[in-house]
Amino acid sequence: MESLFNQLLAEAKAVHDAVPALRDFAVWPEDLVFEPPVPRGVPVLPTIEAMSGDGALQAALAAVGRYASWVQTYSEEEVGRHFLDHYGYIELFGPTGIFRTQACRAFVGYWGPGLFYPMHDHEAEEIYLVLTGRCLFEAEGDAPADLGPGGIKLHRSGQSHAMTMGDEGMLALCLWRGVGLAEDAKLS
Ligand SMILES: [Fe+2]
Repeated sequence: MESLFNQLLAEAKAVHDAVPALRDFAVWPEDLVFEPPVPRGVPVLPTIEAMSGDGALQAALAAVGRYASWVQTYSEEEVGRHFLDHYGYIELFGPTGIFRTQACRAFVGYWGPGLFYPMHDHEAEEIYLVLTGRCLFEAEGDAPADLGPGGIKLHRSGQSHAMTMGDEGMLALCLWRGVGLAEDAKLS
Protein backbone atom coordinates (compact mmCIF):
# COMPACT_ATOMS: atom_id res chain seq x y z
CA MET A 1 0.00 0.00 0.00
CA GLU A 2 2.83 2.42 0.83
CA SER A 3 4.25 1.86 -2.66
CA LEU A 4 0.99 3.09 -4.19
CA PHE A 5 1.22 6.31 -2.22
CA ASN A 6 4.90 6.65 -3.14
CA GLN A 7 3.84 6.35 -6.79
CA LEU A 8 1.27 9.11 -6.36
CA LEU A 9 3.88 11.28 -4.65
CA ALA A 10 6.31 10.65 -7.51
CA GLU A 11 3.71 11.59 -10.12
CA ALA A 12 2.82 14.76 -8.24
CA LYS A 13 6.52 15.65 -8.02
CA ALA A 14 6.90 15.08 -11.76
CA VAL A 15 4.06 17.55 -12.36
CA HIS A 16 5.56 20.03 -9.89
CA ASP A 17 8.98 19.78 -11.51
CA ALA A 18 7.51 20.31 -14.99
CA VAL A 19 5.49 23.42 -14.14
CA PRO A 20 7.63 26.54 -13.48
CA ALA A 21 4.86 28.32 -11.52
CA LEU A 22 4.69 25.41 -9.07
CA ARG A 23 8.47 25.22 -8.74
CA ASP A 24 8.60 28.96 -8.06
CA PHE A 25 5.80 28.71 -5.51
CA ALA A 26 7.37 26.04 -3.31
CA VAL A 27 10.41 23.82 -3.20
CA TRP A 28 9.43 20.13 -3.08
CA PRO A 29 9.81 19.08 0.60
CA GLU A 30 12.74 16.79 1.38
CA ASP A 31 11.57 15.78 4.86
CA LEU A 32 8.41 13.84 3.93
CA VAL A 33 7.49 10.98 6.28
CA PHE A 34 4.75 8.50 5.33
CA GLU A 35 1.91 8.36 7.84
CA PRO A 36 -0.36 5.45 6.86
CA PRO A 37 -3.82 7.00 6.35
CA VAL A 38 -6.98 5.67 7.93
CA PRO A 39 -9.11 4.92 4.86
CA ARG A 40 -12.11 7.20 4.53
CA GLY A 41 -14.21 7.32 1.39
CA VAL A 42 -16.40 10.01 -0.13
CA PRO A 43 -19.44 9.58 -2.39
CA VAL A 44 -17.58 11.05 -5.38
CA LEU A 45 -14.70 8.55 -5.20
CA PRO A 46 -15.93 6.35 -8.11
CA THR A 47 -15.97 9.44 -10.34
CA ILE A 48 -12.38 10.25 -9.35
CA GLU A 49 -11.29 6.66 -9.96
CA ALA A 50 -12.87 6.80 -13.43
CA MET A 51 -10.43 9.59 -14.35
CA SER A 52 -7.50 7.16 -14.29
CA GLY A 53 -7.10 7.37 -18.07
CA ASP A 54 -6.52 11.14 -18.01
CA GLY A 55 -2.85 10.99 -17.05
CA ALA A 56 -0.19 9.38 -14.86
CA LEU A 57 -1.12 11.39 -11.78
CA GLN A 58 -4.81 10.57 -12.24
CA ALA A 59 -3.96 6.87 -12.60
CA ALA A 60 -1.85 6.94 -9.43
CA LEU A 61 -4.66 8.77 -7.61
CA ALA A 62 -7.19 6.14 -8.69
CA ALA A 63 -4.86 3.40 -7.43
CA VAL A 64 -4.78 4.84 -3.89
CA GLY A 65 -8.46 5.86 -3.90
CA ARG A 66 -9.80 3.17 -1.62
CA TYR A 67 -6.86 3.38 0.81
CA ALA A 68 -6.76 7.16 1.14
CA SER A 69 -8.32 9.34 3.78
CA TRP A 70 -10.61 11.60 1.77
CA VAL A 71 -11.42 14.91 3.38
CA GLN A 72 -14.41 17.24 3.41
CA THR A 73 -14.05 20.30 5.63
CA TYR A 74 -17.51 21.78 5.11
CA SER A 75 -20.81 20.79 6.71
CA GLU A 76 -24.10 20.17 4.93
CA GLU A 77 -25.43 23.35 6.60
CA GLU A 78 -22.64 25.36 4.94
CA VAL A 79 -22.60 23.99 1.39
CA GLY A 80 -25.55 21.60 1.05
CA ARG A 81 -25.82 17.86 0.40
CA HIS A 82 -25.27 18.12 -3.37
CA PHE A 83 -21.87 19.75 -2.81
CA LEU A 84 -20.82 17.09 -0.28
CA ASP A 85 -21.85 14.32 -2.69
CA HIS A 86 -19.66 15.75 -5.45
CA TYR A 87 -16.40 16.84 -3.85
CA GLY A 88 -13.49 15.46 -1.92
CA TYR A 89 -9.76 15.87 -1.59
CA ILE A 90 -6.70 14.27 -0.09
CA GLU A 91 -3.86 16.06 1.68
CA LEU A 92 -0.92 14.46 -0.11
CA PHE A 93 1.61 16.15 2.14
CA GLY A 94 1.53 18.70 4.91
CA PRO A 95 1.00 19.01 8.66
CA THR A 96 -1.81 16.41 8.57
CA GLY A 97 -1.01 14.83 5.22
CA ILE A 98 -0.41 11.29 4.04
CA PHE A 99 3.23 12.38 3.96
CA ARG A 100 4.04 14.65 6.89
CA THR A 101 5.95 17.92 6.64
CA GLN A 102 5.66 21.41 8.09
CA ALA A 103 7.30 23.01 5.02
CA CYS A 104 4.26 23.35 2.76
CA ARG A 105 1.08 21.51 1.88
CA ALA A 106 -0.24 19.72 -1.21
CA PHE A 107 -3.79 18.64 -1.97
CA VAL A 108 -5.37 16.77 -4.84
CA GLY A 109 -9.05 17.62 -5.02
CA TYR A 110 -12.08 17.08 -7.21
CA TRP A 111 -15.26 19.15 -7.55
CA GLY A 112 -18.08 17.85 -9.72
CA PRO A 113 -19.78 19.27 -12.84
CA GLY A 114 -21.28 22.70 -12.37
CA LEU A 115 -20.47 22.82 -8.67
CA PHE A 116 -20.18 26.31 -7.18
CA TYR A 117 -17.64 26.62 -4.37
CA PRO A 118 -18.64 29.88 -2.66
CA MET A 119 -16.25 32.64 -1.57
CA HIS A 120 -13.78 31.35 0.99
CA ASP A 121 -10.40 32.32 2.33
CA HIS A 122 -7.40 31.19 4.33
CA GLU A 123 -4.23 32.77 5.63
CA ALA A 124 -1.88 30.44 3.71
CA GLU A 125 -0.97 31.41 0.13
CA GLU A 126 -2.25 29.02 -2.52
CA ILE A 127 -1.64 27.94 -6.08
CA TYR A 128 -3.95 25.75 -8.16
CA LEU A 129 -2.99 23.70 -11.18
CA VAL A 130 -5.95 22.32 -13.16
CA LEU A 131 -5.31 18.65 -14.04
CA THR A 132 -8.63 17.62 -15.62
CA GLY A 133 -11.74 19.61 -16.52
CA ARG A 134 -12.35 23.35 -16.22
CA CYS A 135 -13.04 25.93 -13.57
CA LEU A 136 -13.93 29.61 -13.47
CA PHE A 137 -11.82 31.15 -10.69
CA GLU A 138 -13.10 34.40 -9.20
CA ALA A 139 -10.93 36.11 -6.62
CA GLU A 140 -11.26 39.48 -4.90
CA GLY A 141 -9.31 42.05 -6.92
CA ASP A 142 -8.47 39.68 -9.80
CA ALA A 143 -10.04 39.34 -13.24
CA PRO A 144 -12.09 36.11 -13.50
CA ALA A 145 -10.06 33.25 -14.99
CA ASP A 146 -11.69 30.36 -16.87
CA LEU A 147 -8.99 27.69 -16.80
CA GLY A 148 -8.57 24.21 -18.27
CA PRO A 149 -5.79 21.63 -17.89
CA GLY A 150 -2.45 23.31 -17.21
CA GLY A 151 -4.16 26.48 -15.98
CA ILE A 152 -2.66 28.14 -12.91
CA LYS A 153 -4.36 30.38 -10.32
CA LEU A 154 -2.68 32.04 -7.35
CA HIS A 155 -4.50 33.24 -4.23
CA ARG A 156 -2.84 35.64 -1.81
CA SER A 157 -3.01 35.34 1.96
CA GLY A 158 -6.58 36.09 3.03
CA GLN A 159 -7.80 36.78 -0.52
CA SER A 160 -11.43 35.62 -0.89
CA HIS A 161 -11.97 33.33 -3.86
CA ALA A 162 -14.81 31.32 -5.39
CA MET A 163 -14.84 28.57 -8.03
CA THR A 164 -17.45 27.45 -10.55
CA MET A 165 -16.76 24.09 -12.15
CA GLY A 166 -17.23 23.32 -15.82
CA ASP A 167 -19.22 20.48 -17.35
CA GLU A 168 -16.63 17.79 -16.42
CA GLY A 169 -15.94 19.17 -12.97
CA MET A 170 -12.32 19.80 -12.04
CA LEU A 171 -9.48 17.73 -10.68
CA ALA A 172 -6.68 19.96 -9.39
CA LEU A 173 -3.35 19.91 -7.63
CA CYS A 174 -3.15 22.64 -5.03
CA LEU A 175 -0.21 23.84 -2.96
CA TRP A 176 -0.20 25.98 0.20
CA ARG A 177 2.70 27.84 1.76
CA GLY A 178 3.35 30.27 4.59
CA VAL A 179 1.49 31.29 7.74
CA GLY A 180 -1.68 29.36 8.56
CA LEU A 181 -0.48 26.21 6.82
CA ALA A 182 -2.31 23.83 9.16
CA GLU A 183 -5.64 25.65 9.10
CA ASP A 184 -8.73 24.90 7.00
CA ALA A 185 -10.29 27.25 4.48
CA LYS A 186 -13.35 29.07 5.82
CA LEU A 187 -16.34 30.41 3.89
CA SER A 188 -15.98 34.21 3.67
FE1 LIG B 1 -8.22 28.29 -1.47
